[in-house]
Amino acid sequence: MADSISSLFPSDFVWGAATAAYQIEGAVDADGRGESIWDRFSHTPGRTLNGETGDVACDHYHRFREDVTIMRDLGVEAYRFSIAWPRIIPDGTGRVNQAGLDFYDRLVHELLEAGITPFPTLYHWDLPQPLEDAGGWPLRATAHAFAEYAAVVGERLGDRVKDWWTINEPWCVAELGYRYGDHAPGRHDPHDALAASHHVLLAHGLGMQALRAAIPAAQVGIVTNHDFRVPRSDHVSDRRASELGHAVNSRWYLDPIYLGEYPELAVHHHRWDQEQIFPGDMEIISSPVDHHGINYYTRTIERDEGVDDLERPQPIVEAALPRTTMGWEIYPDGLRDLLVRLNNDYNLPSVYITENGAAFPDEVIDGEVHDSNRTEFLQRHLAAAAEAMNAGVPLSGYFVWSLMDNFEWARGYGQRFGLVHVDYDTQKRTLKDSANWYRAMLSGRT
Ligand code: FCB
Repeated sequence: MADSISSLFPSDFVWGAATAAYQIEGAVDADGRGESIWDRFSHTPGRTLNGETGDVACDHYHRFREDVTIMRDLGVEAYRFSIAWPRIIPDGTGRVNQAGLDFYDRLVHELLEAGITPFPTLYHWDLPQPLEDAGGWPLRATAHAFAEYAAVVGERLGDRVKDWWTINEPWCVAELGYRYGDHAPGRHDPHDALAASHHVLLAHGLGMQALRAAIPAAQVGIVTNHDFRVPRSDHVSDRRASELGHAVNSRWYLDPIYLGEYPELAVHHHRWDQEQIFPGDMEIISSPVDHHGINYYTRTIERDEGVDDLERPQPIVEAALPRTTMGWEIYPDGLRDLLVRLNNDYNLPSVYITENGAAFPDEVIDGEVHDSNRTEFLQRHLAAAAEAMNAGVPLSGYFVWSLMDNFEWARGYGQRFGLVHVDYDTQKRTLKDSANWYRAMLSGRT
């Protein structure tokens, strides 16, 4: 079974693993790093599970060499990590902190020595707190600050790093951060969420320009998150609810990038006057990407029940299928159907699955973690991805979320997504059975 999955993919398919800075690095005060919105949020009582924070996390900042060695031993070919903006430009704009750049320089060096291709993400949610104090993503200036940061990073790493992601999951940035308040900065303002979504997309476009100016050979794209929307029944109102869910969650970000406009259905739903769109914005946002990252975990079953007081469609999921500890249904076919649909609708460029994985209640017993549930999850999703590829989706690679257990945002350390188990008291890394399976699959490749 181990190598039969990899034989479904071409020999130049990229096999990777993914993480994000705030979830693994710790060392929040090291070497001139500034405060991020996740430091502030996680230290605010009541915001995260048990008040947990990323202060230490996996201490990857100090242990990155060990973590790169683990990846090399697994045979991982590509590593998607994120760069912490507050390490690079602690105030969000202006003064550059060389020590912060030095860290990512060392990491990239170590990766290349290990034969692993770096795929950094510039923004995986850790906005410098001073930018939030000035207004955050609802403020247009934040998009320009992002472009400044992208240029600084591109100039430093661009001689060795070719593949880039601008923003991770703009939906989460805008909606979880500014509408629902589940994530940093924890605001509840529908108007701000709409402004944030536009400025995050603008940041993507401006950031892409900045990277390309610094790195002529750059391959740049954005990472978007999608759950697959399924109507509960064939009834017209359920189908309408499902299309609205798709428009709000997916088309809101993909239509601007590929079609140069926001989807009318969702604009109408949000009653958005579009006052934040300046002349030229949509051209910047829709300038062609080189590749696209898709994060997929689950599906959402929609029915026409209206919205709650936060305008959140209700109710979301029915308990039809087994779930992970996140409460997310395991629905591999959704990955295939989503990829096929998005490719039909947008004629996608090279696609990477930039996140896919599962949290389960892993336990270390006699130095081992028997997570056959995770291996099965990954196998089934890879088989679905292969089906999408055979149906014409230009799939170039797959990154498991995550290389190792880490700080799962508001859910704290309660959710373990890693191929590698982390004991947070001792920082001991233990390869789970799924990591051994991944290694066996990669080594069996032809
Ligand atoms: C995604 C995030 C990632 C991780 C997974 C489980 O939304 O991009 O950081 O938290 O979910």
